[in-house]
Amino acid sequence: MKNLFERTRINGITLPNRLVRSATWERMASPDGSMTDRLFKVYEDLAKGGVGLIITGYAFVMKDEQPNPGMMGIYDDRFIEQYRSLTEMSHRHGSPIVLQIAYGGTQTKHRPEERTIWSPSGVPEMATGVAGREMTREDISTLVRAFGDAGRRAKEAGFDGVQIHGAHGYFLSQFLNPYHNRRTDEYGGPIENRSRIVMEVLEEIRRRVGEDFPVMIKINSRDYVENGATFEDCLYVCRELSRRGIDAIEISGGILAAGQKAYFARPGINTPEKEAYFAEDAARIAEEIDTPVILVGGLRSPEVMEKLLNETKIEYFALSRPFLTEPALVKRWESGDREKAECVSCNQCRTEEGNYCTVHQKKT
Ligand SMILES: Cc1cc2nc3c(=O)[nH]c(=O)nc-3n(C[C@H](O)[C@H](O)[C@H](O)COP(=O)(O)O)c2cc1C
Repeated sequence: MKNLFERTRINGITLPNRLVRSATWERMASPDGSMTDRLFKVYEDLAKGGVGLIITGYAFVMKDEQPNPGMMGIYDDRFIEQYRSLTEMSHRHGSPIVLQIAYGGTQTKHRPEERTIWSPSGVPEMATGVAGREMTREDISTLVRAFGDAGRRAKEAGFDGVQIHGAHGYFLSQFLNPYHNRRTDEYGGPIENRSRIVMEVLEEIRRRVGEDFPVMIKINSRDYVENGATFEDCLYVCRELSRRGIDAIEISGGILAAGQKAYFARPGINTPEKEAYFAEDAARIAEEIDTPVILVGGLRSPEVMEKLLNETKIEYFALSRPFLTEPALVKRWESGDREKAECVSCNQCRTEEGNYCTVHQKKT
């Protein structure tokens, strides 16, 4: 029997348990993306809480390209020094920490008129209506290089790896989505072409960080919208990424336009049956590839996760909202109190003063 609290390795890094903090934008960085004391404290609490692998909130790889305010930045070498204290702190407490890196794209309501936003084909985003500017091949090369630079900076800052944000309707997942990607060049059309940019991003990061540095991705099992990316698309991309040496794949799903019920952070997860809403797709993918699969989405009870761990090939379990409520959740479960997470999945955690659990906590 496998259990949640065994030590495992992903490309050289040791994870003290199989519980992962899924990337969570905290809205606590300064406007230019710099660390703040408040943000540092969020990570300190998670690391003290015994999280097996911390994935940071999404960090923007190009200056001024934040789909949301208060995101962390990684678009300049000056971030290396400030993240060094973050990674050192996390390591002191025994938690490996990975930086999630992202280009936002048109699924944004954050000052879209003030910046140039790239998109695959310049069509209005399904939920926000923001169209963006169709990218030239040169723009694509510039962005791929920016992801590579971000990977190199993350390594120099002492992170244990990077996770490419390829999910949730943000930029890279728009390339996989036929509604958003109507290109007629080698980046559009069949999934082999729609996923080309994702492969280029992986290869560029790998070229910059070497073989021994974990490079992971978060990806949608499907978009849950008409003319969106399908499960078959996802399976193709996962197989191809696995063949090209990605170190772990986190399976999520849904985009903003899919609506709350098919969304990546679904509300009202209050029974074991409602938990793990991407498990079926993730289990099928885990059957098909040799790369470790991380499941995310509505995981709340140790029993549900342990069952999946033993009955499927899913290896890791990532949680987001429950750690806003209980940063020490892993320690609690490990100490023998196996009561499910207190998070009630009410989605009241996004506020203008930062993203935190407004039900259980006062603003920090
Ligand atoms: C406040 C908030 C911020 C989030 N920020 C990110 C992010 O930066 N990157 C990302 O990939 N997913 C992000 N997500 C999605 C979560 O990582 C996760 O996929 C989703 O919430 C489902 O997991 P849960 O049921 O454990 O919350 C965010 C979710 C919430 C609620």
